[in-house]
Amino acid sequence: MARQEGRATARVPALIVHGGAGADPAEGRAELREGVRVAAAAGWGVLAGGGSAVDAVEAAVRVLEDHPGFNAGRGSVLTSAGTVETDASIMEGDRLSCGAVAAVAGVANPVTLARRVMETGRVVLLAGDGARRFALATGVPECDPASLITERQLARWRERTQAAEPVRGTVGAVALDRAGTVAAATSTGGTAGKLPGRVGDSALIGCGTYADSSLGGVSCTGSGEAIIRVVLARRALDFLKEADDAAYAARVAVDLLVEEGRGDGGLILIDWRGHIGHATSTPLMPVAWMFPALAEPCIAF
Ligand code: GLY
Repeated sequence: MARQEGRATARVPALIVHGGAGADPAEGRAELREGVRVAAAAGWGVLAGGGSAVDAVEAAVRVLEDHPGFNAGRGSVLTSAGTVETDASIMEGDRLSCGAVAAVAGVANPVTLARRVMETGRVVLLAGDGARRFALATGVPECDPASLITERQLARWRERTQAAEPVRGTVGAVALDRAGTVAAATSTGGTAGKLPGRVGDSALIGCGTYADSSLGGVSCTGSGEAIIRVVLARRALDFLKEADDAAYAARVAVDLLVEEGRGDGGLILIDWRGHIGHATSTPLMPVAWMFPALAEPCIAF
């Protein structure tokens, strides 16, 4: 595949979002469907207006972080200590610029904080209190950490049912803009009942998130430890390079997660031409995508 072939020509933009791989929710499917639809529409609004892929994925992920039904931002699962600690990352695929935050408390939109880290160009990953201090220094709004805890997650934590539940609800987005730039972003509250300080794949470039404009972009969801073991996001792009087929690359990467990573999960992918792929080993993963030919986001859930 020719690197950057046709970059002088405008690309047809594309965007895909996910709301996390997991079990079939007993109730609330309509709410999750609507959540990914609104997120895709928000990201698409940016692209359709000529905005960048980075702006588009940030906008889409922020919508999902603000939605209490997803495990990111407000609505995140709780740690064993009853607190919210979030992970997020973002990557721009022209220069392989990336930023991430891990185990951060008191920030409602960690994806925006990850973007600020990316924009420093000096560091890639900030964790814990350092990330929170960086938010203060760069004007990313802080919030009362308790304001991120929803009644639903608190009730689950009180019942101590969380640890037994499969992971679900990490959020992510991948976009290709008219200039041919691919970007990807992922955000999560992590695993329910996790040890405070535990960091998952969503904060790790190459594992939960990756973008290279000459190949494509990926956002992953699922068992963070398994995803880390197989460096899933980058491996998915390696499969894409071999086969030049976005749907196939997504499927094979998920098979790798199950067989070599010994865990479950899913991913979304857009290749450098705007072809999309998505796959999961779990019963469900809410996904929504947009192309110029569509009047409304297309939803698979
Ligand atoms: N995939 C989200 C996590 O394991 O933290």
